[in-house]
Amino acid sequence: MYTQSFNVPDGAAPAQAVAAVLNAAQQQVLQAAQTKFDAVIDADGKIEPKDWMPDAYRKTLVRQISQHAHSEIVGMLPEGNWISRAPSLKRKAILIAKVQDEGGHGLYLYSAAETLGTSRDQMLDALHIGRAKYSSIFNYPTLTWADVGVIGWLVDGAAIMNQIPLCRCSYGPYARAMVRVCKEESFHQRQGFEALLAMMQGSAAQQAMVQDAVNRWWWKCLAMFGPPDADSPNSVQGMRWGIKRISNDDLRQKFVDATVPQAKVLGVTLPDPDLKWNEERGHHDYGQIDWDEFWATVNGNGPCNKERLATRVKAHEDGQWVREAAMAHAQKQATRQAQQQEAA
Ligand SMILES: [Fe+2]
Ligand SMILES: [Fe+2]
Repeated sequence: MYTQSFNVPDGAAPAQAVAAVLNAAQQQVLQAAQTKFDAVIDADGKIEPKDWMPDAYRKTLVRQISQHAHSEIVGMLPEGNWISRAPSLKRKAILIAKVQDEGGHGLYLYSAAETLGTSRDQMLDALHIGRAKYSSIFNYPTLTWADVGVIGWLVDGAAIMNQIPLCRCSYGPYARAMVRVCKEESFHQRQGFEALLAMMQGSAAQQAMVQDAVNRWWWKCLAMFGPPDADSPNSVQGMRWGIKRISNDDLRQKFVDATVPQAKVLGVTLPDPDLKWNEERGHHDYGQIDWDEFWATVNGNGPCNKERLATRVKAHEDGQWVREAAMAHAQKQATRQAQQQEAA
């Protein structure tokens, strides 16, 4: 999971690079590298880890991919809370598989970011000290079982909308990771919708639980696509670099248009009195998003920010022995292999 709220500035401003003074020959080499990079971007080609790339392109990608990776692993927490309380064995098995997928997405993405020269430890440290951002959607609580269904249907649904264009991102390792991620997100969205459909065919209390969860999550999901285009000055550069393919507002519109008919099938009401089909535009109109609340949550003041970070840090500390054991095992294998090669 997901989105442009990934690519918001992290807590501390990066140290300004000292402008290097280049001689004429060095400038020529740099210019040639830039021309080659621009040609690949213009031809809609892929930039690979060992290719030359502008510093700002590398930094933007490290920030976006690491925020994306953080979102995947923090996203495991609100749903992980429900594994022990899933209402049936089938739902428990599905939820375990989904939460495990999110852990896998984190791994693909940390690996993709590492190819840009930033270590996983550096990225995790930034997350754990609260400097790096992750998608704000995970700073809200999951109050009932219906929240788990709504997260699948709407949060993963918004994620797919945002992530499909990333499969065509100009940075090869990120684009390739997203292909597999999107296939798994599609399962996440469907399992959520199917869980809600079962509840909507149940008792009045179950139906009310679904409606309540939809009411609480709808607007937060619309905010997931990030600030309006007019307030997203970095988007233009992201588009130029082939990192971002579709604007925040266009993605949000696609999500609204895709979700309205699904809500009808479910029999839930989307909590927006201004939501209606606009014949002239060929799209649904929708109401105002509360951006003050969005930014308050991004900046650390959502209902669960502190809890999520504390749980994540504890999980990392509790897993220290696993990492040490894996390193010791790898070391032992390498030593054994070296001894065998010597003996041969
Ligand atoms: Fe995911
Ligand atoms: Fe997902």
